[in-house]
Amino acid sequence: MKKLKVGIIGFGTVGTGVFKVLQNYKEITVKKIAVKNLNKKRNIENFDEKLLTNNAFEIANDPEIDVIIEVAGGVNPTFDILKTAINNGKHIVTANKELLAKKGSELFQIAKEKNVVILYEAAVAGGIPIIMPVKTILCANKISKIAAILNGTTNYILTKMHEQNLSYETALKQAQELGYAETDPTGDVEGFDAAYKISILSTISFNKKVSIDKIYREGITKITAQDIKSAAELGYRIKLIAMGQVLENGKIDVRVHPMLVAKKHLLAKVNNATNSIMLTGYPVGDLILTGPGAGSEPTASSVVGDLLVLASELEYSNAPLPQSICHHDEIADQIEIGETFNEYYISINASNNPGAIGIIGTICGKNNINISTIMQKGVKDDNTAEIVVITEKSKESDVQNALKELLQSDSIKNIDNLLRVMN
Ligand code: HSE
Repeated sequence: MKKLKVGIIGFGTVGTGVFKVLQNYKEITVKKIAVKNLNKKRNIENFDEKLLTNNAFEIANDPEIDVIIEVAGGVNPTFDILKTAINNGKHIVTANKELLAKKGSELFQIAKEKNVVILYEAAVAGGIPIIMPVKTILCANKISKIAAILNGTTNYILTKMHEQNLSYETALKQAQELGYAETDPTGDVEGFDAAYKISILSTISFNKKVSIDKIYREGITKITAQDIKSAAELGYRIKLIAMGQVLENGKIDVRVHPMLVAKKHLLAKVNNATNSIMLTGYPVGDLILTGPGAGSEPTASSVVGDLLVLASELEYSNAPLPQSICHHDEIADQIEIGETFNEYYISINASNNPGAIGIIGTICGKNNINISTIMQKGVKDDNTAEIVVITEKSKESDVQNALKELLQSDSIKNIDNLLRVMN
């Protein structure tokens, strides 16, 4: 294995984990570590504080450093730091999904010109090996579909809501107290993190550039304890699903939203902070990879794995790994949510009037929506009823039209939720 000198940018949970694992490899020397706060106490035995700098550009411009490990996150100033490093001929190993989703094309283009690689196994699903497998051993496949749980925080919250009948707010608070959710949880609970990850994964799986700006995204903040309960009664669990598929007409459908997942489905059994990726390809068929999607050690496994593969490859040649150069110059033709077809869960608050269910049936019928299940359990104290409808496969724009029409009826008080269903 070629001896390499590395610089680490970011020394939080992941950076520290990477540093500790790298102590086991004498071929790899950590020359510098860029941090925000030089005075912070580091919980590492015999740590040499002289490795630290608060100027990441010092690492990007250091002629002795071969590889940058970037685990700082964010787009600014990380993009400029990595661009400088690439222009200086350094290879990059990164866990930064946001940067790759937003500015990946630009970085990969410069990397190609400079004959260096950007490796990013840790950017999608932490410790689960998925990027390298898709680019290497699965390359004989035409991948047509991905359905995945790519965010541990939201999976943890939804699991606790289900297991303990908690409201979203209470489950989030517990997740924050236990360190699963951040103080500002927006990136996770609104689905941004999962959207970055599915944009990266669907780009390499479908060999077309999937734009983050065209990914439909909905988070979990509107899921109520009542939704979780109704879903369970109907045989489903609610999960935040990141999905991507190639349609028969060649268009690409990529989105992130909560779904009712049938209890028998493997993704319904993935609980707590665990991630899972189900991938369908020809000739391989269905694959499912499940494991830790975050955390210091699992993420270090992917970061150090990328680094060691690179070191081993550079032993034989100065050329980048052929499988690491991105071949997705073609832009994906992504469809809008209105064009998608799904089964739906619609939770409707109706007045306790004779004919309310008839109105729902008539309006659904008029909009080409075939109801497969309808559930009402009594009447509430305010003389309204919660009516839950599950539909057969319908067009999203038809469903949206039906919801508007329903709201015009005096018998319909509110559409409490609309979720998509995976069987
Ligand atoms: N915050 C992410 C999660 C991990 O909850 O899965 C890093 O992307």
